[in-house]
Amino acid sequence: MPSGIVQALKQVSLSIDEGESVAIVGPSGSGKSTLLHLLGCLDTPSEGIYLLNGADVSLLDDLQLSHLRATQIGFVFQSFNLIPTLNLYHNVRLPFLYGEMRCTESEINHRVLSAIEMVRLSHRSYHLPSQLSGGEMQRAAIARALAIDPLLILADEPTGNLDRETGQATLKLFQELHAAGRTIVIVTHDPSVASKCQRTIVMNDGGVVDAASS
Ligand SMILES: Nc1ncnc2c1ncn2[C@@H]1O[C@H](COP(=O)(O)OP(=O)(O)O)[C@@H](O)[C@H]1O
Ligand SMILES: [Mg+2]
Repeated sequence: MPSGIVQALKQVSLSIDEGESVAIVGPSGSGKSTLLHLLGCLDTPSEGIYLLNGADVSLLDDLQLSHLRATQIGFVFQSFNLIPTLNLYHNVRLPFLYGEMRCTESEINHRVLSAIEMVRLSHRSYHLPSQLSGGEMQRAAIARALAIDPLLILADEPTGNLDRETGQATLKLFQELHAAGRTIVIVTHDPSVASKCQRTIVMNDGGVVDAASS
């Protein structure tokens, strides 16, 4: 920045096992989103090492990184980030547009429909986002993340725009995915969300202050 270098993260050392569900909590500005972006290879660290599935991500070029994101990482955002002009089916199909998945047309169709079924929105497949409630939009976004069968599901404040009840239902869906063996990392302000995860990582001022198991 013109005012100098912003150190968003410092001295972060942690590992997340396959199949874990982890919550990242901490005050605004503590580096939660930055950490999630590093885990999802949306950013690369200026120093230090990130091993994803045993591979040093810093050795990959931009093309390899985008292939990795497209095939291994499912992102879920607070504001859903659905494309307003596409119906639910085509939103969930979006990750396959990049052609990274090397699936046949019928495999893609099967994966998209299965993901939509998993989030219990089959009856809404051909509706536009504007015709869905907030909770349904977030379930659609989760289906989009799931459809590629990712190694890692990363969610940044996924219940932040939902009312309490809808937030709880969304959380239940994450718990189901975890029970089915998914690795899930959720950034959250909500202690009730964090309490449903196996482990809570507490951040403050760009560092991890506690990474206890619950
Ligand atoms: N693109 C950016 N440019 C400059 N500073 C940034 C940028 N993104 C984040 N930061 C700064 O890095 C720190 C951590 O931000 P962030 O990871 O977004 O925190 P959190 O998600 O916990 O609110 C904050 O001080 C924030 O202002
Ligand atoms: Mg954030």
